[in-house]
Amino acid sequence: MCGIVGYVGDRQALPLLLEGLRRLEYRGYDSAGVAVIVDGALAVAKRKGKVRELEGVLPASGLSGVVGIAHTRWATHGEPSDANAHPHTDATGRIGVVHNGIIENAAELRRRLAADGVVFRSETDTEVLAHLIARRPENSLVEAVRAALGQVKGAYGIAVIDAARPEAIIAARNGGPVVVGVGDGEMFVASDASALMGHARHVAHLDDGEIAEVRADGFSVLTLEGAETTKATQALEGEVSGFDKGDHSHFMQKEIAEQPEAVRRTLLGRLDHRFNTAHLGGIELAAREMLDIRRVKILGCGSAYYAGTLGAHLIETLARIPAHAEPASEFRYRNPVIEQDTLYIAVSQSGETFDTLAAIQEVKRKGGRVLGVINAVGSTIARECGRGVYLHAGPEVAVVSTKTWTSTAVAFALLALQLGRVRDLSAAQGARLLAALSALPDQIASIVTREAEVGALSAILAKADHAYFIGRSAGYAVAMEGALKLKEVSYLHAEAYPASELKHGPLALISPETPTLAIVPDDDLLAKNLSTIAEVRTRHGPVLAVTHEGVRLDGVEAAFAVPKSEPELDPILLNIPLQLLAYQVARGLGRDIDQPRNLAKSVTVE
Ligand code: F6R
Repeated sequence: MCGIVGYVGDRQALPLLLEGLRRLEYRGYDSAGVAVIVDGALAVAKRKGKVRELEGVLPASGLSGVVGIAHTRWATHGEPSDANAHPHTDATGRIGVVHNGIIENAAELRRRLAADGVVFRSETDTEVLAHLIARRPENSLVEAVRAALGQVKGAYGIAVIDAARPEAIIAARNGGPVVVGVGDGEMFVASDASALMGHARHVAHLDDGEIAEVRADGFSVLTLEGAETTKATQALEGEVSGFDKGDHSHFMQKEIAEQPEAVRRTLLGRLDHRFNTAHLGGIELAAREMLDIRRVKILGCGSAYYAGTLGAHLIETLARIPAHAEPASEFRYRNPVIEQDTLYIAVSQSGETFDTLAAIQEVKRKGGRVLGVINAVGSTIARECGRGVYLHAGPEVAVVSTKTWTSTAVAFALLALQLGRVRDLSAAQGARLLAALSALPDQIASIVTREAEVGALSAILAKADHAYFIGRSAGYAVAMEGALKLKEVSYLHAEAYPASELKHGPLALISPETPTLAIVPDDDLLAKNLSTIAEVRTRHGPVLAVTHEGVRLDGVEAAFAVPKSEPELDPILLNIPLQLLAYQVARGLGRDIDQPRNLAKSVTVE
């Protein structure tokens, strides 16, 4: 987390840095800061809070200069405060550093520097870097930074400027993403290429252990050992409009509304009506290799894990391959057994989540193969996997995921169909699913316009302190995602439980004050779900339901019905009202919907 951005060129740096910060704010919003080289000296402005707070303390004349760095922070070492905000500088105020990551030996380095007379002005691990760099004797800034990094252990993506050597920004990466953006006679550095859209024409992604000297007229890259290395650049594609709320009040609302288009793009060119299958070219698996898969293990965090849970269900149902999803962090902590005939799949919207990346590296280290299901093109996880499925859902700016959950579920449906069709899924079954997939965008469109209809449900939830979300089978994956969404944006406590498990404990907590939201599809488990609802009602618990048109629910306080798809795809539609519900509850409670407290979109720390 934390976003870094840098500019060197002939335009005023400040407006470009602030624009980059606004786009990177999803990475953390505890504090923000900029440093610009003004007349041979470093001018720094920083502030606790969001980028708009920083803008409020900038001098009216701005900071006039053509080289600068900036940062938006998600606090790790040191509470959010003006002093702990980046950029950090050395004692003379010459060196400016912005950093995303954690320096693990910061305490030891601080002790050594303090013993040498350095007075620290913040509690951060980053400040040690500024002092270490300033004390290096090397003539060139890149060599000084490289030598200082040799003393540091931990994870970082950094950008460094020196008022005495204003011709370049030095950027380095070891665990925290860094891209170099190439413009016309100007260059950029950022944690994420999206910050550079509309400005850079090409980007180069630094790999771990690389350091770049970025000048207005180009850049060169060394390894941290000092060997020269060449970097390929890719054209920067994407639409700047993704970063604009348009007519919507929040990005979350906009991204919920964008789901029909997002799903259309996920499906585009991937439906094979000739052979009644899906075609995902990027997975690079020949039919023979697909036949050899004995198990599928899906890894991700948070919503990505929940989408993976639905993915596992789809693969097991359609391809009849045992499939299971697990939180990526737990997977890597338990020294997992890696099997040659298991297909590992990593799911990540940002492509930068540290725990997911570490899980992939663990699988690969032990000889396993991993496919990525990723939204962010060219991201670290996408590159680490080397093959997989891009969602093409477009940029997701709200911290909570909505459209990417849906697109991930659709990508898994495509994968399950493709795997199924080289196994026992018949052409008729394939055709049935292709028709249902093609119908999804319009069905989603018919739900996202019904925001007002979640009003009766949201009024009940908004009054509660606790709620249960229950579902059976794939409905449980939907319940987990719905509960997480509500927690994140409304700060209400919501707990997801398999509907079948309620009577094994949580029923003790059901009361008139504790609503239960039940996922009740019109499927072969309907009677079971109706029994669970009756059990809750008997204990005077209010019940809300997301269900299918035509299902008769007795004693339910409020319900939202979605159109039917095929049973395998129904969970995708049943989830959408839960997004609307979380949004509406949070809005009613006046929450900071796009940037909920304590969270960041891209979790690049352990
Ligand atoms: C939930 C949410 C998080 C992310 C999780 C993984 O709304 O946004 O739970 O899903 O941090 O992030 P990615 O998908 O970027 O790996």
